[in-house]
Amino acid sequence: MNEQPAPYGNGPAAIAPGAKVRIPHLRQMKERGQKWAMLTTYDMYTAAIFEEAGIPVLLVGDSASNNVYGYETSIPVTVDELIPLVRAVSRSTRRSLVIADLPFGSYQASPEQCFHTAVRFMKEGGAHAVKLEGGAEMLAQVEKLASNGIPVMAHIGFTPQSEHQLGGYRVQGKGDNAKRLVDDSLALEAAGAFGLVMEMVPGDVAAQITAALSIPTVGIGAGNGCDAQVLVWQDMAGLRSGRLPRFVKQYADMHGLLQQAARAYAADVEAGTFPGPEHTF
Ligand code: KIV
Repeated sequence: MNEQPAPYGNGPAAIAPGAKVRIPHLRQMKERGQKWAMLTTYDMYTAAIFEEAGIPVLLVGDSASNNVYGYETSIPVTVDELIPLVRAVSRSTRRSLVIADLPFGSYQASPEQCFHTAVRFMKEGGAHAVKLEGGAEMLAQVEKLASNGIPVMAHIGFTPQSEHQLGGYRVQGKGDNAKRLVDDSLALEAAGAFGLVMEMVPGDVAAQITAALSIPTVGIGAGNGCDAQVLVWQDMAGLRSGRLPRFVKQYADMHGLLQQAARAYAADVEAGTFPGPEHTF
């Protein structure tokens, strides 16, 4: 790990260099107007790299379903498939706040089901907090977790676990539907959520919700009026190829880099130039 921990945020430090990121820090950053970045991560190397880079909050998303396990959507991934990824991330980091996503079907049935699943992520995975999808229909779940010592982040707008019900990847909260998102956000905060992800929500609606809440909002396709932003790391770093959602900005071409490295390696092996004497015992 880095000798010189990266500072968090873009102003006077809310979080001392080297200190663990705690939930109250996120609220303090909102109060100070300091924006922060969240990334998904699913393994030890990326988790350690993102922590070194100064990403305060790491999400082991159920997007592992279609970014690690090769499923088509986020729906099939299970608790048993996600827990080892959460454990890898929490073991490989010291400062970042690690949030585990509760997968589809593991929390919707009842607050009790939600509680038991969240406890597994905390005890077996070492997560510091969990995230779940849904608005007003999830208030009892949020209340159950928050009142029993489990920090919970809510996720509204486009919720990928409901993609079949929502009719695919569509912007949510347009026109008259904005009011429902605003009402849900206020209710989720009152129920005890410590943060709110907003996915594919019109920028002006997300900004209005951000101003109305005292908990931090995290946008993905929700404009820059949110307190924080999140991206799936493979999208952010260009590991994934093909058509990308409009809200993604690629900061590297990992796909191209890895392909180049693999081709160079194969060429050396085929030419008999690797391994060389320096690699040989
Ligand atoms: O699973 C995930 O990656 C997410 C983020 C996109 C917010 O839920």
